[in-house]
Amino acid sequence: MAHIFNPENKDKLISDERKKIFEPEKLLNAAGLKNGMSVFDVGCGNGFFALPAAEIVGSSGSVFGFDLSQEMLDALNSRVEELDINNIKTFKVSEEGIDFSEIKDQINSKADFIIMANILHEVPELESFLDDYLEWLSEGGRLIIIEWRKKETEEGPGIEHRLAPKELYDLLNKKELRAIYSRIINNNYYLKILEK
Ligand SMILES: C[S@@+](CC[C@H](N)C(=O)[O-])C[C@H]1O[C@@H](n2cnc3c(N)ncnc32)[C@H](O)[C@@H]1O
Repeated sequence: MAHIFNPENKDKLISDERKKIFEPEKLLNAAGLKNGMSVFDVGCGNGFFALPAAEIVGSSGSVFGFDLSQEMLDALNSRVEELDINNIKTFKVSEEGIDFSEIKDQINSKADFIIMANILHEVPELESFLDDYLEWLSEGGRLIIIEWRKKETEEGPGIEHRLAPKELYDLLNKKELRAIYSRIINNNYYLKILEK
């Protein structure tokens, strides 16, 4: 069975410690995110990447957050309201995936960036999941993936749930994505950036 994030632990996702590890604003800027761009944050949770992305893309850009968990989306929407942000829209998706035909009127263009941070190890049908979202990545658009390293570590999901970089590459190669950057973040996580 897939390891699904427990929303009771949501505060950990936006902790200062996590900010120090990922430096989300710096990471997104270095990945090439710019003012005016459109971003999909898939498995956006309570907005660890969606909020800094919204700041970078500014009022001429948009961030679309997708998540299975209404509790996580509610937490993100409260932060959006508190901070008076008006360029983030969120969508609740089902375990069967997303039907873009139902929401495409609310999404004005394809995504320049898709973020999948700490979500792919939670997805049982990875290939169809990737197909659904990657269809919405523009030509030249970038996919940012952060995942748990496939090794035993003190925290995080069991090793059987983790995705080795090679597994991901093999899958993403089939989707005609080209790896342009790769980095081990720390003992727990790796980062990959791919381009369509
Ligand atoms: C570990 S959290 C990471 C949240 C955020 N990306 C971050 O890095 O802070 C994983 C999130 O992915 C969501 N998730 C899991 N499977 C999903 C799916 N198939 N579609 C959309 N969201 C999913 C979970 O509900 C959870 O909010």
